[in-house]
Amino acid sequence: MKSINREQHSHNKKDPKDKEFLREPLLLSEETEEDVVLNISLRPVQFIDFIGQDKVKENLLIGIQAAKSRNEPLEHVIFSGPPGLGKTTLAHIISHEMGTKITTTSGPAIERAGDLIGILTNLEKGDILFIDEIHRLSKIVEEFLYPAMEDYKIDFVIDKGPYAKTIKFNLKPFTLIGATTRSGLLTAALRSRFGMHYHLDFYPWEQLVNIIKKSADALGMMIDEENAALIAKRSRGTPRVANRLLRRVRDYSQVKAAGVVNKKVVTDALDLQGIDHLGLDDIDRRVLNAILDTYNGGPVGIESLAATLNEESDTIVDVVEPFLLKSGLLKRTSRGRQATGRAYEHFGKKKLEKQKEIFEDEK
Ligand SMILES: Nc1ncnc2c1ncn2[C@@H]1O[C@H](COP(=O)(O)OP(=O)(O)O)[C@@H](O)[C@H]1O
Ligand SMILES: [Mg+2]
Repeated sequence: MKSINREQHSHNKKDPKDKEFLREPLLLSEETEEDVVLNISLRPVQFIDFIGQDKVKENLLIGIQAAKSRNEPLEHVIFSGPPGLGKTTLAHIISHEMGTKITTTSGPAIERAGDLIGILTNLEKGDILFIDEIHRLSKIVEEFLYPAMEDYKIDFVIDKGPYAKTIKFNLKPFTLIGATTRSGLLTAALRSRFGMHYHLDFYPWEQLVNIIKKSADALGMMIDEENAALIAKRSRGTPRVANRLLRRVRDYSQVKAAGVVNKKVVTDALDLQGIDHLGLDDIDRRVLNAILDTYNGGPVGIESLAATLNEESDTIVDVVEPFLLKSGLLKRTSRGRQATGRAYEHFGKKKLEKQKEIFEDEK
């Protein structure tokens, strides 16, 4: 996913003036350099450190125990859900709990079948191959995955015409873990080859409080329950956002308040990030306001909306929309996206006469 956010971010990073309170786009779905560095200390390593998603954890633990007792690799697993909810983290935890090696790559990174074959033939028995954004694999590469997943075999044809030769590769039994923000874009053929499917949903803010407290500990930062809750409630149900906001609060408190973290410091730091009390960021507001103002509340098709905002439609669908739907600010209808009465209220906007029927609908 190419996102404007990322470009802005790397631009910010280069400008030392902005360093103090640089506005890190909260919704950035990819990991920033800072995320990567801090993840070494913040990313849970074992299931007991992974907060929430209890059903998913329980099922995985059973699967892992069973596989271990049979001395077999774990069945292939697919995780779906919005960015920042723990898909990559779970893949690493599984590898830790299975006691096997993990190789990570992503759909767009595997350009040719040869790249995939190189990776697969290097796997040892029980190893894990993690493919992020697996819905973005090319068709050709994906077709090589089918027999690899099913029978741990690949047939690779080299040369053409009369000189064509098929080379057979026998692979060691491995586990494929796929992650996707768009399970709807997976082909049925690929989807059916995964034995376990788990959808991660947004976290209740109470669970984010626990994540924030753990992260604060790891960062050597003091924060009490009440202030952790202030951050949690504005973190749009997403651990990655919670950790990012915590770091912005830490920066702010160090520079402006001699390291003290109290209600005023937290609130000011969050306001400076442009997050409102519902946890909406600039881009959320731009999306909603475009629907409200330019399209009279909608419905509007996603491509028109993306063009109006000069954003990638993928960014809106994968990153922005899930939380707006969850918060009841946006609705998906057969004719497109539509703002709800709650969205009008949130922005203090009046319903035009034309919108009346929408609100009648909602009742
Ligand atoms: N359940 C959780 N408990 C604690 N930390 C979590 C949890 N889920 C995610 N995180 C943290 O949030 C960040 C984003 O998680 P990640 O696995 O990269 O999300 P995804 O791959 O779904 O985009 C990581 O730093 C991770 O440590
Ligand atoms: Mg990830």
